[in-house]
Amino acid sequence: MGKIITFGGNRLYGSVRIGGAKNSVLPILAACMLSENDITLKNCPNIADVTNMLEILDSLGCHTEHEGDTIKVNAAKATGYAMQGNLSRRLRSSIFMLGPVLGRFGRASFLHPGGCEIGLRPIDMHLKGLEQLNVKIKEQSGRIECYTNGLIGAEVHLDYPSVGATENIMMAAVKATGKSTIHNAAREPEIEDLQNFLNANGFRVEGAGSGVIKIEGGRVDKQDNVEFSIMPDRIAAGTYMCAAAMTGGDVTLLNVNVSHIIPIISKLRETGCEISIIENDTVRIISAKRPDEIILTETAPHPGFPTDLQAPLFALCCIAEGTSVIVENVFENRFKHAAELSKMGAYSMIKGRTAIIRGVPTLFGTDVCATDLRGGAALVLAGLAAKGKTTISGTDHIDRGYELFVDNLRYLGADIMRL
Ligand code: EPZ
Repeated sequence: MGKIITFGGNRLYGSVRIGGAKNSVLPILAACMLSENDITLKNCPNIADVTNMLEILDSLGCHTEHEGDTIKVNAAKATGYAMQGNLSRRLRSSIFMLGPVLGRFGRASFLHPGGCEIGLRPIDMHLKGLEQLNVKIKEQSGRIECYTNGLIGAEVHLDYPSVGATENIMMAAVKATGKSTIHNAAREPEIEDLQNFLNANGFRVEGAGSGVIKIEGGRVDKQDNVEFSIMPDRIAAGTYMCAAAMTGGDVTLLNVNVSHIIPIISKLRETGCEISIIENDTVRIISAKRPDEIILTETAPHPGFPTDLQAPLFALCCIAEGTSVIVENVFENRFKHAAELSKMGAYSMIKGRTAIIRGVPTLFGTDVCATDLRGGAALVLAGLAAKGKTTISGTDHIDRGYELFVDNLRYLGADIMRL
């Protein structure tokens, strides 16, 4: 595991281009299994999770190429439906392979992805939704075997708008006989990106972004080779905006989708930041003073405040003027960064899913350890605002989901390096 070193106190200044969204490219890479065409994906982020997903596609017989921000996939010769244990364990998002592999081969075999640092991460809704599409599922000694003698369209109702379950059911239902409807579907922008990708490949999906998604299974309008550009990463954008707000910065973000970052814009305006929307893909944030407190933030499924920005916002609240409250409604164990931030002089109390954060004027650099992707980013942001040197270990977590994180922050004026 690598380390990142920061010497805090520099204002961030300048512009940064936001790359493609991790949480869009991963399900879309899985969906490539549904096509036998040449697929070219543009604006892909260079991150460890993408590398891992490509390894999984290769292990199933797909041909993949990755150069810069472009990935080419051809799954015509794919034969595998059994995911290797080490690969599916290494990448929790391998669960997204379930729907497309079932859609392609009528069977799938994989290790239960298990929980991770932020919670148990069950997959009951994935499995229940697929069973409604005529999939038989057996779980034995940690391995899950799925089989269907033909996917059949159905009305599926999700007890909770799970992003992954919505995506898996979409990717199986496009290959089912007849129509499917997903009720209480997740409404995240990444779902719309997946819908657009599936339709670019000749399938018929509509309603993504609303709570009801309709899929006309079995029909594929013949497509030649497909080229598709991944949507910008709204979570990376929000993370850089928090960094600017914490360092009294003046930062312009390029290649964003403004409609995807309204929740973080609204919260950062509460802290007194001046945020201007220059074009529909360019946003400028100026922070002229110490952030004001944020009285209450509750994470929720989209269009609520995204759980993936809870940790970066938590770091900002640690130096805000006053007391802020954050309620983490999506994952049951997503405040691990609080203990590490307290080593830097932050003051917070965690009661279950609620964090009460009393802002302090100054954090102090010290040694801290990242335990998950977004919590690790929060520690880096705290290091940018702290007095003195901060050493963040466990940076493999950060490299899973943020491309060029250190380079971009350094380009914006942070005193930061990677060991
Ligand atoms: C996706 O995870 C994202 N990951 C997560 O981003 C994101 O935090 C999450 O959606 C919520 O927006 C990717 O897209 C690769 P969920 P996912 O199913 O699909 C419970 C990041 O940092 N649940 O919407 O796993 C679950 O335990 C990552 O980029 C069940 O109980 O999220 C959680 O409490 C972290 N049973 C809640 O629902 C199920 O079958 C939301 O999970 C499925 C989920």
